[in-house]
Amino acid sequence: MLKRPNAEPASPGSALNTSHQPFHALLADGVAPLAPDVPTALLGNLSPAQFMRRYWQKKPLLIRGAIPGLAAPLTRDELFELADRDDVESRLITHVRNKWELEHGPFAPDELPSLKQRAWTLLVQGVDLHDERARRLLECFRFIPDARLDDLMISYATDGGGVGPHFDSYDVFLLQVHGKRRWRIGAQRDLTLKPGLPLKVLQHFEPEAEWLLEPGDMLYLPPHIAHDGIAHGECMTCSIGFRAPSAAELTTQFLYHLAERQDANVSTERYRDPRQPAVKEPAQVPAALVEKVGAILAKIRWNDRDIAAFLGAYLSEPKPTVVFDPPERPLDEMRFAKQAAKNGIRLDRKSVLLYDRRAYYLNGEENALSDAKSWVVELANRRRLSAKRFVTLSHHPSMTARLHEWYCAGWIQVGELG
Ligand code: SIN
Ligand code: CO
Repeated sequence: MLKRPNAEPASPGSALNTSHQPFHALLADGVAPLAPDVPTALLGNLSPAQFMRRYWQKKPLLIRGAIPGLAAPLTRDELFELADRDDVESRLITHVRNKWELEHGPFAPDELPSLKQRAWTLLVQGVDLHDERARRLLECFRFIPDARLDDLMISYATDGGGVGPHFDSYDVFLLQVHGKRRWRIGAQRDLTLKPGLPLKVLQHFEPEAEWLLEPGDMLYLPPHIAHDGIAHGECMTCSIGFRAPSAAELTTQFLYHLAERQDANVSTERYRDPRQPAVKEPAQVPAALVEKVGAILAKIRWNDRDIAAFLGAYLSEPKPTVVFDPPERPLDEMRFAKQAAKNGIRLDRKSVLLYDRRAYYLNGEENALSDAKSWVVELANRRRLSAKRFVTLSHHPSMTARLHEWYCAGWIQVGELG
């Protein structure tokens, strides 16, 4: 008998007491991340600390009224417009006469099925990179390190639409933003997939719990929980997804990183073979060559600094489709500083800024933290500096010059709010 998942319906946001954190303000202004120890309706009146201890990576949680009164960050037409762009990843999934079909975008408006047709789903990935409202929604989840965050995907479905029963390898918050969707979930061990399909559909789905989610309701699922969401009438769902690179991906990427930084880690010696005898079988790889290369490879060394530098660059590297939009007629440094002192600055929604004890990493580039620490740490955590904070912090040597460079690259914007 399989264990029932511990999805516990949490009380609705209307039961908030005054100490709870209002994230309508958060959605509107994109201010500080939720405080770890303060209960919040977003997490069913748990504090972020309690949620992380009890549910994160452990068990599902259904939250009724996570964001009461929430409207979809994008309209259906705005989502369709995004799906028509070639710098946006989109997929169309149809389920007709028991046959699953998957097509990859971009989709011109006349390439999408009619709104009257049942059971189709459009999935648009990375909406946070293209839309400020979607980006702000992600801000609600910054009680989880940015290093773990992947993106915000929005799905649109007509009645009966869904992507089939499946499991994901990463954590996800499924936030209902328009219409209703029926979710069924199960903690089954048998994760065998139906063979020969263009998408991952479970061979035997054994749902153990089911709920109809309405706008503002949210379902958190840890990795490997089987789930199936079927639109109940037209609906839209936001998936806040987290990245969990495999050991194979990390190993490959780390070795690339080391290879790029040959100076520090890889011996400069070259293969030599002064004792190579003449051979009868020229096609045979000499055993001495294998031995010698083995000795060279065994000298590759790395330390915690290399690992931190790799992770910072790898995790802050923009996705391949990301293109920044530098200002057409950039302000010079003096005018930029004047504007920033008046209106503040913010990280562009496509920018990723991370830091560790020694360095900071902006969009894949590493820099020493040293004397930039105070302003970089604040900008990284809040993703903005108010006009007042800019003025206070701008006595730091090189801060204005550095920010001006980033502004010219389109990595930050003038103005605290987008
Ligand atoms: C959907 O929004 O339709 C699919 C999301 C998921 O199941 O991961
Ligand atoms: Co899923």
